[in-house]
Amino acid sequence: MPPVPRPDHADPADPSAAFAADAAPWAVFWIDAGVDGCTRGLPPALRGAITRRWQLLLAGLPPGASLLDLGCGRGAVLALARDAGITRLQGVDAAPITGTPFPLHVGSAAGLPYPDRAFTAVTSQFGVEYAGFATAVVEAARVAADRLWLLVHAADGPLHADAREQAAQAAWLAGPMATFERLAAHFRAPSPASVADIDALRTAIVDHAGAAGNTSLLEGVWRAISALQDVADPIAGTRDFAAGLAAHAARMQAMVAAAPTAADVADAAGCLRAAGFDVIVEDVGTPPAARWLLASRRPT
Ligand SMILES: C[S@@+](CC[C@H](N)C(=O)[O-])C[C@H]1O[C@@H](n2cnc3c(N)ncnc32)[C@H](O)[C@@H]1O
Repeated sequence: MPPVPRPDHADPADPSAAFAADAAPWAVFWIDAGVDGCTRGLPPALRGAITRRWQLLLAGLPPGASLLDLGCGRGAVLALARDAGITRLQGVDAAPITGTPFPLHVGSAAGLPYPDRAFTAVTSQFGVEYAGFATAVVEAARVAADRLWLLVHAADGPLHADAREQAAQAAWLAGPMATFERLAAHFRAPSPASVADIDALRTAIVDHAGAAGNTSLLEGVWRAISALQDVADPIAGTRDFAAGLAAHAARMQAMVAAAPTAADVADAAGCLRAAGFDVIVEDVGTPPAARWLLASRRPT
């Protein structure tokens, strides 16, 4: 097997980089988010089951194995691999994430700068689908010498439905409700009328939550409106709040657009079989929150 390439950093500021648009909603997110930033909101049982599955898979890799994780974020899977004793680790992510202990190539998972079969195992946890699932799976398989383990969102499952609903709620708050304009107007010139307007806004949010399947975003916004009353600079706080919600909505929309359907995963499994892999597809939950695509290269 060729040696694992040295870590490198593409220029994320290059406007011609096709992945720059993919990275935009994530670059800000990873400034503050921890290693488990993308999974900490999952139901604990689901999160535990996913972690245990990774641990089991990783424990089966041979000594000296190398591992590439796609859409690695701050390194949730790389950390599990390190804990399993794997030392030859490489991450790829579209966002220029700093301060991780793992080598990171900033670029798209759809075009990897590595030779064929460069890594013993190629993995991804909710990352590879953002690069265009069908293309990225083929590219991941190209650089996988032995194992390809991908965990992807399920377009027919509850995480996808939550993301779709949250994106719509954020659009409602920023659009028809004019939440941030109303807050800014109130903080600029508080008056009995502006106080009444913010009360009406909060009541509308409660009413909207009453008809929602997932209320966590609306509850967070409702609480944040109260908290803004106590910050030193509520106008700046409102601006930051609006930017944070817009970035969250963009990530939710990206997830909605990226999540593969069951048919997409079945197609990818077919491509992998044709390319010489044995493949298992496993649903995670019923209806499935996510799917595993677990492939092993057949000996030649
Ligand atoms: C849901 S997060 C998952 C992160 C990580 N795998 C984890 O489990 O914590 C999705 C990640 O995919 C990355 N991403 C988005 N588009 C990408 C692309 N085209 N190529 C590689 N990574 C991409 C994002 O920057 C983000 O870090």
